[in-house]
Amino acid sequence: MTTSAIHDLETPAQGILLCRHHFPLLRQWVNGKPLVYFDNAATSQKPQMVIDTMMRYYEEENSNIHRGVHYLSEQATQAYEGVRKKVARFLNAGHEREIVFVRGTTEAINLVAASYGRTSVGAGDEVLISTMEHHSNIVPWQILCEEKGARLRIIPINDRGEILLDEYEKLLTPRTKMVGIVHVSNVLGTVNPVKRMVEMAHARGIPVLVDGAQAVPHMPVDLRDLDADFYAFSAHKMFGPTGVGVLDGKTHYLEAMPPYQSGGDMIKSVTFERTVYNDLPHKFEAGTPNIGGGIGLGAAIDYINQVGLSAISAYEHELLQRATEAASEVPGLRIIGTAHDKASVLSFVMEGIHPHDIGTILDSEGIAIRTGHHCAQPLMIRFNVPATARASFAFYNTQEEVDALVRGIKKVREVLA
Ligand SMILES: Cc1ncc(COP(=O)(O)O)c(C=O)c1O
Repeated sequence: MTTSAIHDLETPAQGILLCRHHFPLLRQWVNGKPLVYFDNAATSQKPQMVIDTMMRYYEEENSNIHRGVHYLSEQATQAYEGVRKKVARFLNAGHEREIVFVRGTTEAINLVAASYGRTSVGAGDEVLISTMEHHSNIVPWQILCEEKGARLRIIPINDRGEILLDEYEKLLTPRTKMVGIVHVSNVLGTVNPVKRMVEMAHARGIPVLVDGAQAVPHMPVDLRDLDADFYAFSAHKMFGPTGVGVLDGKTHYLEAMPPYQSGGDMIKSVTFERTVYNDLPHKFEAGTPNIGGGIGLGAAIDYINQVGLSAISAYEHELLQRATEAASEVPGLRIIGTAHDKASVLSFVMEGIHPHDIGTILDSEGIAIRTGHHCAQPLMIRFNVPATARASFAFYNTQEEVDALVRGIKKVREVLA
């Protein structure tokens, strides 16, 4: 069945379930059991359409872009630049020149910290981030603050894992030069009120960067509506390939920012005396990019559009609800992250059992979850846990798989508690 046919089915859930067959990897058996893949927050699986598109690119179109006048180079350039347009439409971005291709969320945030941060943050200034940030939205700001004599300030959260907006407001001061906030937490699943947070920062003239790595694969994102100044995400978490991602930045910021990396493609002209930089977005895209990866990202967006993000979001919500209800009944299990507004992540700890042991026993059942600090060590400290076990869902997961997870968790208890 093609994705275009799924909308002919009676219910979105029926259609969504049929999409599972588009993911060849999910047919595997692991440790004698059918694979249950619940590590989607780390990386998602790829539909055949993305795999085929990338294969076709390498078989039929592979060529370097922008510089060539020959047929293949023009084909590859058109395909790659077409993806930029597609990304802009997908996210309702201000303009395609605001879409900068990078390696992923991490590189996008590093770009902003290194370029905007270095020129706009000085001694005594403050950068504001939240307790629930991924290390990639902590460390670049920490390095910047150390270098500049600036201060990293932290927005606190409550025990459910929700931002304390009153505290956030108090932390927005004339010294604040940037706010960095995750849209959806990779550990707690909390969907942060980023639109409201952007409004509050903008009322004081402060720019906001939103880390959208866990939002874009799970819910419709409208950048014009959010109005964030920078928005970052990775293709590999949204059914696309690794090694490519996007930084969306508002034109007036990107225009004023110095290049992040330099070399070929980011220039208009070079003499030994002087270099004139290229127009946006190419000023920030030095060197040969991940062309095949970008084209794969385009196919992933086509695929997501065919399935429909509203249907994906509604279906994943059902999975999360079923998992949450069943897990809550397991004695000694504590869910970390119980925000009112949550998306597709279930983190938990079990009394007297190390999360790594939970992961190992579940793996023996063919169930892939992630255990550890999930690149959010300050958040582990906030919840006073060394690590958590995390099941993260995608729309190709099923209710039966959720039930298998819960059976697995009960087995962990029988074996280890
Ligand atoms: C919320 C969040 N931000 C940033 C990242 C970093 O993404 P990448 O490793 O693709 O750069 C991740 C990855 O897990 C994430 O979950």
